[in-house]
Amino acid sequence: MLQIKRYTAKNIDDSIQLLHDLYLEQLEHYPLFLSFTLAKEQLKIRLENLSKHSKYGYALYDDDLFIGFIIGHVIPSLWGKYDGFFSPLHGNAIKQKYRKRGYQYLYQHISDELVSNNILSHAITLYTNDDVSMNTWFHLGFGLRLIDSIKPIDLTSQSTLPNNFQIQRVTQENFKDILPLHKNLRFYFEKAPLFMPQSEEDEAKEIKDFINQENQYMYALCQQGKAVALMKLKELGENYLTQDKNAIHICGLYVDEHLQGQGIASAFLYEIETIFHQKGYTLLGVDFESFNVKGANFWHKYFTPYTYTLTRRIDENILKRN
Ligand SMILES: CC(C)(COP(=O)(O)OP(=O)(O)OC[C@H]1O[C@@H](n2cnc3c(N)ncnc32)[C@H](O)[C@@H]1OP(=O)(O)O)[C@@H](O)C(=O)NCCC(=O)NCCS
Repeated sequence: MLQIKRYTAKNIDDSIQLLHDLYLEQLEHYPLFLSFTLAKEQLKIRLENLSKHSKYGYALYDDDLFIGFIIGHVIPSLWGKYDGFFSPLHGNAIKQKYRKRGYQYLYQHISDELVSNNILSHAITLYTNDDVSMNTWFHLGFGLRLIDSIKPIDLTSQSTLPNNFQIQRVTQENFKDILPLHKNLRFYFEKAPLFMPQSEEDEAKEIKDFINQENQYMYALCQQGKAVALMKLKELGENYLTQDKNAIHICGLYVDEHLQGQGIASAFLYEIETIFHQKGYTLLGVDFESFNVKGANFWHKYFTPYTYTLTRRIDENILKRN
């Protein structure tokens, strides 16, 4: 019989085993994938942190057998005034044969506790090809928001960059050249159909802070000396598998609106792959909003999705009833 208990540090080793089984299930879908072995040490640290700091986590048992878990952290004011709960890729897994019933059972319990504490936006990351889980959460009222995608750095095609374009690394000396593009990228995220309010942080400071960090990069694509596109990359992505040191992750891309639709981003991507191939990287990752029409189409053309983050927002009027 299914039963749940509070998630504790005693569940961590069994959770890692379940996460590994799930990873192996998914591996067959990707010709080249991020390494579990390289991420394992970090995975343990992340689960220890979650179990230590999060109030919201349950372990699932069939009699005495540990068969699954869900744990996540609270994000203040997530997509609105109320707090949110996010269970990352390492924050949930269920043995295959229990998956549908298990997630239903866990969500019924954890959502009760979350809503009682005014936590109204809920999010969970799942592997794209884990159809049973995806379907179960879809039926629980969740929809797609974020996508993690990956591609091997294979350089099988040819450079298509026109002659009058050059790539330049953005530095503390020349960062002012890309300020207008950076601003436009932020502005773009506030428009339909994204509607994502951007922080009011000082633009120049944000760029300087970003490029100051070790293993973070920003490149500008210049046409006759004028910056017309920018790309931001960092070594560590958001989920635990992106601890893989062979991978580099894109975390921003913008092409001047007047030049969009002419193959500029595609050519830029190829040049960036060449640069990081020379640095010894073999994988390129990216995460993006599924409802960013231009961006999502671009990433889907070259990358393969491996996780979906699904979300549900609860009607805040329910709080008046409790
Ligand atoms: C996404 C973006 C970088 C693409 O730049 P681009 O130079 O126009 O891209 P390309 O010309 O190389 O197009 C490659 C693919 O992108 C997609 N794409 C480009 N423009 C698009 C548009 N207006 N609408 C929908 N898809 C589009 C298409 O899939 C296209 O392939 P196709 O030509 O075979 O249809 C650019 O539109 C942009 O800066 N958008 C705003 C910021 C953004 O979304 N950044 C990415 C997320 S951080």
